[in-house]
Amino acid sequence: MDILFTIRHFIYSGHWNGHRVHSPNIFNFFKDAIFFKGGVDYSLAENSRQNFIKSEEKISVLSIGAKGDGKTLKEKKIAKIARYSSSFGKYGRLLQRMSRYLKPKKILELGTSIGIGTLYLSAGCPSSKVITVEASKETSKFAEKNFSRLGLKNIECVNACFDDCLEKILKENPDIELIYVDGNHTKEATEKYFSLIAQYAKKETVAVFDDINWSKEMSSVWKEIKNSAAISVSIETLRMGIVFFDKTLTGKNYIVRY
Ligand SMILES: C[S@@+](CC[C@H](N)C(=O)[O-])C[C@H]1O[C@@H](n2cnc3c(N)ncnc32)[C@H](O)[C@@H]1O
Repeated sequence: MDILFTIRHFIYSGHWNGHRVHSPNIFNFFKDAIFFKGGVDYSLAENSRQNFIKSEEKISVLSIGAKGDGKTLKEKKIAKIARYSSSFGKYGRLLQRMSRYLKPKKILELGTSIGIGTLYLSAGCPSSKVITVEASKETSKFAEKNFSRLGLKNIECVNACFDDCLEKILKENPDIELIYVDGNHTKEATEKYFSLIAQYAKKETVAVFDDINWSKEMSSVWKEIKNSAAISVSIETLRMGIVFFDKTLTGKNYIVRY
């Protein structure tokens, strides 16, 4: 995480619990998704993660994304992936509450890994179909096996590179309403994914970008995204950027201390 962006975030962040937010829909999103205080059962994702942390299993993982070459395979412990590369804690829970609040017809996740973020998204709205994309074959298979063990029939695992399938998925699934971009954090790739998402977005579309302050590059793409004419409102936490495409929403960029 870039330290200068972290400091800047704490200086400019505010809007606790949605106070000073004027659009009723965005106010409700703050109240009933971001800062929702009611009881939500997070056990689907969190039990799987806890079980994986105890696992001795190893899988062969493709090195891909901002730091990978897209070719090398490396043995990795499931426990390590669960602990360090999977959604957890307040950000995992936020994914579930966003899905719960938005009730999207379909959800698209870029970056399945072993499927913990997928489980948070799916648990938020079990009636939604979730399409989740992962280039690493054994990783994708591992997640798929767990979804089927849990009896989840609403999740489709796509084993492919984002660049090779994103446009096709968006074109064939015009009812995707929530998109979670959680992989390949380079400027070029993120710009490309945002541009495709914007091209196919409709009024209901909400896109969530993870790791917006992970590097200087990512902070600068996030700046481009939140200033894009394609979006109406953006909300940023230190880690996640959320954008709305509904042009009837009024607002601006909300910087939230979450
Ligand atoms: C941070 S992990 C995803 C974590 C998961 N979304 C969660 O919430 O638990 C990112 C994943 O994206 C995958 N990935 C990165 N670049 C990719 C690309 N260009 N195409 C497909 N998968 C990619 C990586 O293999 C990795 O498993």
